Amino acid sequence: MILVTGGAGFIGANFVLEWLRSTSEPVVNVDKLTYAGNLGSLRSLQGDDRHKFVQADICDRQVVDDLLATFQPRAVLHFAAESHVDRSIHGPAEFVQTNVVGTFTLLEAAKAYFVSLPAERREAFRFLHVSTDEVYGSLGPADPAFTETTPYAPNSPYSASKAGSDHLVRAYFHTYGLPVLTTNCSNNYGPLQFPEKLIPLMIDNALSGKPLPVYGDGQNIRDWLYVADHCSAIREVLANGAAGETYNVGGCNEKSNLEVVHTLCDLLDELKPAPKGSYRELIQFVTDRPGHDRRYAIDAGKIMGSLGWRPMETFETGLRKTVEWYLANQDWVNGVKSGDYRKWVELNYADRSAGVA
Ligand code: NAD
Ligand code: DAU
Repeated sequence: MILVTGGAGFIGANFVLEWLRSTSEPVVNVDKLTYAGNLGSLRSLQGDDRHKFVQADICDRQVVDDLLATFQPRAVLHFAAESHVDRSIHGPAEFVQTNVVGTFTLLEAAKAYFVSLPAERREAFRFLHVSTDEVYGSLGPADPAFTETTPYAPNSPYSASKAGSDHLVRAYFHTYGLPVLTTNCSNNYGPLQFPEKLIPLMIDNALSGKPLPVYGDGQNIRDWLYVADHCSAIREVLANGAAGETYNVGGCNEKSNLEVVHTLCDLLDELKPAPKGSYRELIQFVTDRPGHDRRYAIDAGKIMGSLGWRPMETFETGLRKTVEWYLANQDWVNGVKSGDYRKWVELNYADRSAGVA
């Protein structure tokens, strides 16, 4: 049994679905179901006894203690977070609460659980913390890519809160011997991503004939990784990573935002042509994000060299799969936007409650 936090979000749901496709080991999935959590993403697991969903807040120590005692997981995989940079600019408090206090609460509970385990189970236990490349700050055009030893320099409330959580995770290894692993990954894209993030937002706006808002000059660079490749990296780190180590994960796909939006428009022109003209005509340059990091780039040499991990998708194949998924799953997008998925949740998980379901 593994315990996943945030498994109703974008990456967590992709991870849980893939985990249960490829192993028989059960998952207890703890998620508060904020606006970003969507049990509709896990609809295909309905009736699958290997998936135990618990609606709960990771900041609730009593609930976390109860879950660990009840399910006795061999690992905690911590995805839950407030994840959207723009939202963190407008309302940083929830980011500090979930990302810092929530991670601290989980670490405290995991420490108590860990010391209660018999020696042979302590040996196998892992706490895997899913983090971001944004903790390293912003690169100039000629700077080398982020490595695991790049100094932290977070610039947004989101990245600062994630940096705080990374430091706590590190401290619990060095001070208490909790066997932690941390992954710092670049921008993910793929199925089930909430349409507030660049790629699903652009697809959705284009299909609705709305403007495509590109921040600033559109020349900010991100390093893109298909979500299934991030999930395979997490599995690899869980299985073979060395306790106390951090691993950078990225796809070697540095693209400017404008390049990404152009490629998306061209794919949509091919797969779902607009009534007239090209989707590129919808692009609008808008006011920049405050404190907007200019460039991120990941050096994934450590995870590739020591664990043999490789991404399966190129940006071109991953983006095509993503556009195809959104075109085929408009009901999912509309559900997220209209709040219909919450009705589905009430219907199918009527008996859920905070605590052990
Ligand atoms: P997301 O916003 O799609 O999902 C977050 C999930 O966490 C949601 O299901 C939400 O309900 C849940 N959650 C939030 N607060 C909670 C709380 N207090 N208690 C329990 N559950 C709570 O995020 P995502 O994009 O899937 O990101 C997952 C993790 O990966 C985050 O830690 C994020 O920092 C990290 N990450 C994301 C990316 C990316 O590009 N999306 C890249 C690198 C790292
Ligand atoms: O680098 C990893 C991070 O990637 C994760 O830790 C975060 O959780 C995740 O949200 C993502 O952060 P970004 O800020 O890079 O992602 P976002 O999709 O919000 O924006 C990507 C780029 O596109 C960024 O430079 C801002 C720009 N942008 C974004 C939106 C939503 C636009 O130009 N227009 C938009 O409408």
